[in-house]
Amino acid sequence: MSESPEALAGVADVDCRGKQALVTGSTSGIGRAAALALGQLGADVVVHGRDPAAGDAVVDELEGIGVDGTFIAADFADVGAVRDLAAGVRAETDGLDLLVNNAGGFFREGRLTDLGVEYTFHVNHLSPYLLTADLLDHLRAGARVVTTASGAHQGASLDLEGVRDVDDYSATRAYARSKLANVLFASELARRLDAADRDVTSNSLHPGAIPGSGFSRFLPGPLPRLVQVLEAVPGVTTVADGAAELLFAAVSPRTADVSGRYFSNRQPTTPSSAARDPEAARRLWEFSADVLDVEEPLESAGSAVDA
Ligand SMILES: NC(=O)c1ccc[n+]([C@@H]2O[C@H](COP(=O)([O-])OP(=O)(O)OC[C@H]3O[C@@H](n4cnc5c(N)ncnc54)[C@H](OP(=O)(O)O)[C@@H]3O)[C@@H](O)[C@H]2O)c1
Repeated sequence: MSESPEALAGVADVDCRGKQALVTGSTSGIGRAAALALGQLGADVVVHGRDPAAGDAVVDELEGIGVDGTFIAADFADVGAVRDLAAGVRAETDGLDLLVNNAGGFFREGRLTDLGVEYTFHVNHLSPYLLTADLLDHLRAGARVVTTASGAHQGASLDLEGVRDVDDYSATRAYARSKLANVLFASELARRLDAADRDVTSNSLHPGAIPGSGFSRFLPGPLPRLVQVLEAVPGVTTVADGAAELLFAAVSPRTADVSGRYFSNRQPTTPSSAARDPEAARRLWEFSADVLDVEEPLESAGSAVDA
């Protein structure tokens, strides 16, 4: 039998009883496996995605483990739905110990959302930004915010001007930019939490290239199912491996005091130079608040950017 994510991450002994977690994008793939692993460790989990049948199935599994599970549906291309998700999480929990920003995907067609921004950027970056902002005061002392980025951020440029334009759309470029935004967001959040003296950490991670998740759903015809068969090939990075990356950042004692870092292969790793640019991180933060028409989160902690 293959190893569990919690065993792979070296966290099988971590006791999460009494902890409350939100894992976005946990109806499928890495998020689903991480949500169930957190349940195995004793955490109660709010499950999120769009597919209610898949969400209810994860909740049933969590309840079978003996923890509380709740599913809340929200389309991340819809600002109102994200705000409702945050309100739902507030209603269902009395505080969060773990916010995992994991929902996302690769989207073949270029289109603008109601905000007038490119869909991938909206779903993969703006919605986790808004959700985190709405839940900041619901994070308990010692909480961790973990964002699933990707090694695909390497080579990307932020190009905020291009976010409002899909004339020359490239799905690969849009995905890479959104994942660069994830790394920048996580590090800027860490800096602002620290400046605001909040006892909350923020890190991002690359889960590995994982054919067995639902990630390949953008491929046409039967290809997604064919690609998923690779999950069983020895040596291939599995969904459990990806969930282990997430668990390492989310609950390992080894990462408890680490903030503002990017993990890959279960260790802090140096992301691209574009992802280490504090000025770009600040611009992205302000741009995101502007596009969403919300007050800048942790604004008073935003002034002094370390060189
Ligand atoms: N697999 C890889 O090789 C790989 C590599 C690097 C990074 N990642 C990242 O890992 C994360 C998880 O992906 P995965 O591989 O586990 O793929 P997955 O199996 O397709 O899972 C994606 C999750 O995100 C949710 N989601 C997608 N679009 C959404 C939207 N518009 N609104 C709300 N929820 C949405 C899905 O929910 P529904 O199905 O219910 O809509 C699902 O729960 C993503 O951020 C992805 O970019 C994956």
